[in-house]
Amino acid sequence: MPKSEEQRVIDPSLDEGEGESELTLRPLSINEYIGQDESKEMLSIYIKAALKRNEALDHVLLYGPPGLGKTTLAQIIANELDVNIKVMSGPAVERSGDLAAVLSTLQEGDVLFIDEIHRLPRFCEEVLYSAMEDYVLDIMVGKDSQARSIRVELPPFTLVGATTRFGDLSAPLRDRFGVVLRLEYYKVSELKTIIKRTAQVYNTEIADEAATELAMRSRGTPRIANRLFRRVRDFADIKNDGVISLEICREALGKLGIDSDGLDYTDYRYLRAICQTFNGGPVGVESVAATISEEVTTIEDVYEPYLLQEGYIKRSNRGRIATQKAYDKLGIKYFKGIFE
Ligand code: ADE
Repeated sequence: MPKSEEQRVIDPSLDEGEGESELTLRPLSINEYIGQDESKEMLSIYIKAALKRNEALDHVLLYGPPGLGKTTLAQIIANELDVNIKVMSGPAVERSGDLAAVLSTLQEGDVLFIDEIHRLPRFCEEVLYSAMEDYVLDIMVGKDSQARSIRVELPPFTLVGATTRFGDLSAPLRDRFGVVLRLEYYKVSELKTIIKRTAQVYNTEIADEAATELAMRSRGTPRIANRLFRRVRDFADIKNDGVISLEICREALGKLGIDSDGLDYTDYRYLRAICQTFNGGPVGVESVAATISEEVTTIEDVYEPYLLQEGYIKRSNRGRIATQKAYDKLGIKYFKGIFE
């Protein structure tokens, strides 16, 4: 069972990799990109069609849990189209002028990537509507009675938006994306291939069973797989001449508090809160968050999607409900609730 919260190694939203390493780990072309087969197939067709017609690719919205490769895919889209990419983050945009400044630097066919686009302020969204639809920028100049709007033409460009919260996007913004792709958690076999690729990038020997073990404990998420890989490699460097064996892998993951299914200390606290403090639910996420002193958004975006997908919890309109699997994980006797 996970022991400590000193190291939150499984939170895929925590960082973008350590130093530059994530950059070299990122595949640059669609053929190198592992997994997300359906999304890749669709994207490939749309990219080829845009290139053939010599047009800008339609706007693309990528959504799904953090760490699944949305930024990587945006970069790949730009590479495949052979255009520049400008990167922005929704919460970092404070004034519509910030957005207008970047939009006005775009060249024909360029990609504008906006990460966490659901956190773009509403008044900035409105600047995007006409930019996306008609490739024009309506800027307000002057104040009060002098205020007037100037229209600036933009070259055709592709907006790639990424979000962990599809439902938080306003309908007018959502409707302006011609391509909407949902990224899924990766299969163990796919994560294993990614881990082996990472081992090659780092020039590290890894046993096949160790790669499988890491893949099984990475919550379907490449960013977590790569982070755990780096930690396990540290153990291997110090204790095993750099070779990642199954034993070293298990020892390191045990010390990091990652259990055999990839759950960590916070998952356990979350499940224990529902099963014990709230008798299995239904309970509102706010109550669980307060009990374990976590942010509601962290729980909703990072922890719950995986626990839901793996069947540890269910959602109902009255709140979260723990399933038998959650009780089994905690080693507590399961009483079927009246809401089950
Ligand atoms: N590294 C991180 N995500 C990847 C992916 N989907 N394919 C290949 N390498 C990756």
